[in-house]
Amino acid sequence: MSLLSLTSMQTNIGQYAVLHDVSLEVPEGGVFVLLGRNGAGKTTTLRSIMGLWKPSPGSVAFRGTDLTGLHTADIARLGIAFVPEDMGIFGGLTVEENLVLATANGTFDRDALARIWRLFPALETFWTKPAWALSGGQKQMLSVARAIIEPRELILIDEPTKGLAPSIIDAMAEAFREISANTTILLVEQNFEFARSLGRQMAVIDDGRIAHAGSMEDFVANKDLQENLLSLSA
Ligand SMILES: Nc1ncnc2c1ncn2[C@@H]1O[C@H](COP(=O)(O)OP(=O)(O)O)[C@@H](O)[C@H]1O
Ligand SMILES: [Mg+2]
Repeated sequence: MSLLSLTSMQTNIGQYAVLHDVSLEVPEGGVFVLLGRNGAGKTTTLRSIMGLWKPSPGSVAFRGTDLTGLHTADIARLGIAFVPEDMGIFGGLTVEENLVLATANGTFDRDALARIWRLFPALETFWTKPAWALSGGQKQMLSVARAIIEPRELILIDEPTKGLAPSIIDAMAEAFREISANTTILLVEQNFEFARSLGRQMAVIDDGRIAHAGSMEDFVANKDLQENLLSLSA
């Protein structure tokens, strides 16, 4: 059984159908990459999984449990975290306070905190500083840290490398590699180089439809498909 199954999902925003018949099987473990051009429907797919948009018709199942109709908070409690594109952190609060607010009962597990400081040393350095004072990359790290401060089974991450310097992107890839050893990551990206270094399985969404799904290895070898679906030059 897949960890996450999307079945024939149609998501409407207002009067427009944004997703059409989206079906995807995300296996447990590692990084699953969802690629696609701007406006293809990547964010809408993640929001539909989290119950922020309600697909109709269609369904989302997590470990066989139907999520359709559940509230977002209940979906999160089942072990799914969402790192949105705008990162969802509180600029006026310190790094520590941002993490406290991401816990269910306001306390950290010491081991979880030690792991976060090891993955993202800047968060320890800036522990008592307000989040607005962090660099773009450090804010993104804080946003990912909020998602893993408590045990999760699946993390949905929306374009984490957008606007970041190459050295920060490399550090992010290292952190994602380690996180994905025990937590499945569904990664939405437009940065193909970053995505291909992490993903085992992948899909491309185009104009609200799944245009391709398969192994990253096969997609990397298929320059025509990359050109057609991502407008990347070979
Ligand atoms: N809140 C919204 N209101 C109206 N249209 C939206 C909204 N969010 C997304 N869309 C439209 O849905 C399509 C897919 O958007 P999105 O899922 O954000 O794409 P991506 O994340 O792949 O760039 C786009 O055409 C976008 O304009
Ligand atoms: Mg998006």
